[in-house]
Amino acid sequence: MEIIEWSESLSVGIVKVDEQHKMLIQMMDELDQAIRNNESADVVEDVLTNLFNYAQAHFAVEEELFRTHRYPEMALHELEHQRFIAKAFAFKERLSSKRPGLALELLNFLSSWVLNHIELTDKRYARFLHDCGVT
Ligand SMILES: [Fe+2]
Repeated sequence: MEIIEWSESLSVGIVKVDEQHKMLIQMMDELDQAIRNNESADVVEDVLTNLFNYAQAHFAVEEELFRTHRYPEMALHELEHQRFIAKAFAFKERLSSKRPGLALELLNFLSSWVLNHIELTDKRYARFLHDCGVT
């Protein structure tokens, strides 16, 4: 598993969003630790629940910014968020099957989605929102 960490190259230049992205990445690191330490299914599930709740709250913050400033790519961006949530919850459901390696597969899905989403999709709104005076 590659190391999951925030770096300046992931910054979208909006303080609150960057802080939330850092927190999301930290929570994925916690999940990584829980899996590595062979924590019980309950512990892994708790970490996941916190992570998903936090992700949803974070998406709501971004979407509120889009609405306030009438971001033209809002619909597409929100669709990505919705698809992620649906896929993440479906994955979590499957964890109860206790198939070996599934938790790690889920972590890989989460971390690659989040990092790609920040890099490609979130960065697309950065310039637009900066021009609207959001910092
Ligand atoms: Fe986003």
